[in-house]
Amino acid sequence: MNIILLGPPGAGKGTQARYLVETRDMIQLSTGDMLREAKDSGTEMGKKVAEVMARGDLVTDDIVIGLIREKLEGDSKGGFIFDGFPRTLAQADALEELMASTGQTLGAVIEMQVDEDALVERITGRYTCGDCGEVYHDATKRPAVEGVCDKCGGTNMKRRADDNEASLRQRLMEYYKKTSPLIGYYYAKRQLHRVDGLADIDKVRAEIEAVLD
Ligand code: AP5
Repeated sequence: MNIILLGPPGAGKGTQARYLVETRDMIQLSTGDMLREAKDSGTEMGKKVAEVMARGDLVTDDIVIGLIREKLEGDSKGGFIFDGFPRTLAQADALEELMASTGQTLGAVIEMQVDEDALVERITGRYTCGDCGEVYHDATKRPAVEGVCDKCGGTNMKRRADDNEASLRQRLMEYYKKTSPLIGYYYAKRQLHRVDGLADIDKVRAEIEAVLD
């Protein structure tokens, strides 16, 4: 089954996507991760997007649609999890066309509902393992041994350049202006499911599992 995880920055999309990869053999397609990889690789495209991302603005539709197109041509295993894509109506239309052209369908759109105060706390406390991408938080999810990743044993913990309050405010503005209209769009298409993203991580996980089952 192919699904979209929809929600503002810090809603928990990446955290939940990683569980689905482990338990259902799904493939996480995070446009944020793909853009960060491009940024780190120093390509022309990477240089172009670095500043946009640091500000908290959206990268152009053409770039992200191109990134997703490449991935859809590969093996879909247990299904794709679109994490952070689509973020505009143009991206949603492009996804529909791409899926139709590769003979795939969209099973569900899961909106993770959260409030703004929680997001500031989540984003400013977040860090990830630079080796395997496992997501941690200063208050709610620390590794068993400080500084050592529970998943891969790596010690290369990283914080994102856009995980500060000023960028977060801009990312939220972009979400409300350009991404939140997708909630109505998928509701009208009867594909929308809502989960309480404020619940603890395991509860959110159970709610998402219930939608998929
Ligand atoms: P992207 O990387 O997609 O970031 P985002 O959407 O802002 O989402 P985040 O990764 O910040 O949050 P998340 O929902 O994954 O939360 P997480 O699970 O980590 O995009 C970054 C930038 O790239 C954009 O601003 C834009 O510039 C560009 N971009 C990307 N895609 C694009 C597109 N399609 N079009 C145009 N531009 C694009 O959780 C956050 C923290 O909370 C963690 O520390 C976690 O441990 C904790 N946490 C998670 N769940 C819970 C819970 N239930 N309870 C308590 N704590 C929790």
